[in-house]
Amino acid sequence: MCGIIGIVGREGVSELLLEGLKRLEYRGYDSAGIATLVGGAIERRRAEGKLVNLERRLAEAPLAGSIGIGHTRWATHGGPTEGNAHPHATDRVAVVHNGIIENYQALTAELTQKGHVFVTETDTEVVAHLITDYLQQGKAPVEACRLAFHRLEGAFALAILFAGEENLMVGTRRGTPLAVGYGDDAMYLASDAFAMAPLTNRLAYLEDGDWVVLTRASAEIRAADDTPVERKIHVSNVSAALIGKAGHRHFMLKEIFEQPQVIGDTINAFVSASTGAIALPDLPFDPAKVPRLTIVACGTAYYVAMVAKYWFEQVARLPVDVDIGSEFRYRDTPFEAGGVAIFVSQSGETLDTLEALRHAKRAGQHIVSIVNVPESTIARESDRVLYTLAGPEIGVASTKAFTTQLTVMACLVLAFARARGTISHEREAELALALREVPARAAEVLRHDDAIQALAGVVAESRDALYLGRGTAYPIALEGALKLKEISYIHAEGYAAGEMKHGPISLIDDGVPVIALAPSDALFEKVVSNIQEVAARSGRVLLISDADGVARLGSKVRWSIELPKVDPFVAPILYSLPVQLLAYHTAVAKGTDVDQPRNLAKSVTVE
Ligand code: F6R
Repeated sequence: MCGIIGIVGREGVSELLLEGLKRLEYRGYDSAGIATLVGGAIERRRAEGKLVNLERRLAEAPLAGSIGIGHTRWATHGGPTEGNAHPHATDRVAVVHNGIIENYQALTAELTQKGHVFVTETDTEVVAHLITDYLQQGKAPVEACRLAFHRLEGAFALAILFAGEENLMVGTRRGTPLAVGYGDDAMYLASDAFAMAPLTNRLAYLEDGDWVVLTRASAEIRAADDTPVERKIHVSNVSAALIGKAGHRHFMLKEIFEQPQVIGDTINAFVSASTGAIALPDLPFDPAKVPRLTIVACGTAYYVAMVAKYWFEQVARLPVDVDIGSEFRYRDTPFEAGGVAIFVSQSGETLDTLEALRHAKRAGQHIVSIVNVPESTIARESDRVLYTLAGPEIGVASTKAFTTQLTVMACLVLAFARARGTISHEREAELALALREVPARAAEVLRHDDAIQALAGVVAESRDALYLGRGTAYPIALEGALKLKEISYIHAEGYAAGEMKHGPISLIDDGVPVIALAPSDALFEKVVSNIQEVAARSGRVLLISDADGVARLGSKVRWSIELPKVDPFVAPILYSLPVQLLAYHTAVAKGTDVDQPRNLAKSVTVE
């Protein structure tokens, strides 16, 4: 899960590569580097750490050229050092790579025997040596690449630059994404459309196994079996402006505040403007006949799956299994004939989720995905895709993708319930109305930003925090804890409130803030008991509830935030917002890197 970019035919290429890498930095920021041809020779600049270090290096030692490749890294094989930073090169070839070359040890041993000298700990360096070896055998660059690609195993997107070849670049992809950008007298390669947004909006997404030969005027694409193929050229609507912070201090804050808008956009895609009903998405199976649902995702998206389990079981009376991608894939799950598997992913590239999808597909399940990035691999491999209209999410911590995923799930649940006859017209109309009102209610929730910022000062001084909830608030408690730990580095746990007494309550003392998510729903009285158990043990509780909940419990807790009262069905969408803001402001108070927390990357394309 790195970002790669290649440019053929633009003077001042190193500045353009750097600009492209800035838009790819969300994919990894352990190190960065670029290579260009200067007088036909490969020249590189690389730096450990964030892109700003490479930028400094280039200011000290600029790099000329009109052809080049660039990389931003999330380390897998080999530490995040300058020596391990891409591009990796011999005197004849430079390579940038996203993914993992699984047979790199065998290839390295073979090439070492032939006299190649390896200087890094990475799996990528072997690609440069393998292609160089074919060049040394007298093969032309394109043929050398073709032969090399057939010997590589694993998941990879590669861009390759050749010494002495000012008008030639080769790229390929297997398992991880790569797009070709068509410019006027220039051609581009990049991991995604964002990287190329200011350069061109005409893109073709390579299919799995494709490889491409670029010159400044042409792109010849071959399929995995080397036969020439055409891939559709799309006009991308990703604009460079969408990728700015719009006056906010961080992308995460901008994305939190976009939620009323993007949730509204997402609902509108499902709600019939004339009747207000949820328009049944056209599905390649009959929801009334589905015996069982499987929902798989990773991280934050997995918590969407957990909320969906409550919804599908209660509203559509459909049994649901949920799992995280990395476990599901290796569990020997018995699948029911005619079953449906739903995969949830912002990026559409998360390898654990993608492989889980392929596993379910091989088992004959209908594949539905909920994805934010059109043309992503998960989108392309699904039988039916339901898009979240969140727009580009750049902050590593997912926010607006999460709430729009919940929104799509809610629409799907209503559609299933109607098809299965498990909901009355009146109740369906009530829930559709509650959903349509979510954007306005979300805007009200965001008005608590200042109050939450003040409370973040308390959380920022704590070593640990606990989040509690019951029913659909339980996955939101897990999400709150994940958000807090990933960006503030404060240890946090989410628990089903009823579980406290089975162990975790021993953690309670006055140094551990307890964030209780308690909409006044059917389980509210149960949560009241759980909160009182915490309060009785000197626990400092922050209650997040509605007016009824605050009236009932406000005097028993240290702090409270009052959210609008909504139908419990949509509460998990709204209760996500305060936990996002609490994590955000806590991280800012601690001075951590909110948009690029340590050790993480936005798109996780390794197992
Ligand atoms: C946490 C976060 C991650 C992602 C997970 C799956 O804030 O963003 O846990 O949710 O890596 O990513 P996608 O949704 O792209 O499959």
